Amino acid sequence: MTFSPLRTTSLLLALAMVLAGSQPGLAASKKTMLREGHALAAARCGRCHAVELTGNSPFRAAPPFRTLGQHYPIESLEEALAEGIFAGHPAMPSAPWTPDEIKRLIGYLKSINPKPHH
Ligand code: HEC
Repeated sequence: MTFSPLRTTSLLLALAMVLAGSQPGLAASKKTMLREGHALAAARCGRCHAVELTGNSPFRAAPPFRTLGQHYPIESLEEALAEGIFAGHPAMPSAPWTPDEIKRLIGYLKSINPKPHH
């Protein structure tokens, strides 16, 4: 992985904005967060992946999101998104994710995947 000062700076800026507390996320209920996570998944990934509890992916080669937890812990996606890396992903949308968006997407993915065993 190459180190990008520019990317790091924008991540820090996004984090600073979250910490500044002006965003409504802190007060958002769990249900709201799940709804927003689902909306993010549908808007940014749903073109190819099935993002619901049922149904096939529009792009057959893309694994339905409810099966991701069978292959690796959902948490590992968090880091990949934050760093803008998606190994082996052919057409990963390149728009950057804010920490807040990542939290919501990961929360939603966890909600549709079976609990990992420890
Ligand atoms: C243009 C279609 C497309 C879009 C949009 C897309 N994906 Fe994918 N994704 C794929 C395909 C195809 C694969 C299977 C790639 C493979 O197995 O090599 C995949 C695989 C994955 C995998 C599994 C990777 C692995 O190594 O097992 C994850 C996780 C993933 N996508 C997450 C996402 C997320 C999160 C989004 C939305 C931000 C997204 N994808 C948007 C097509 C897409």
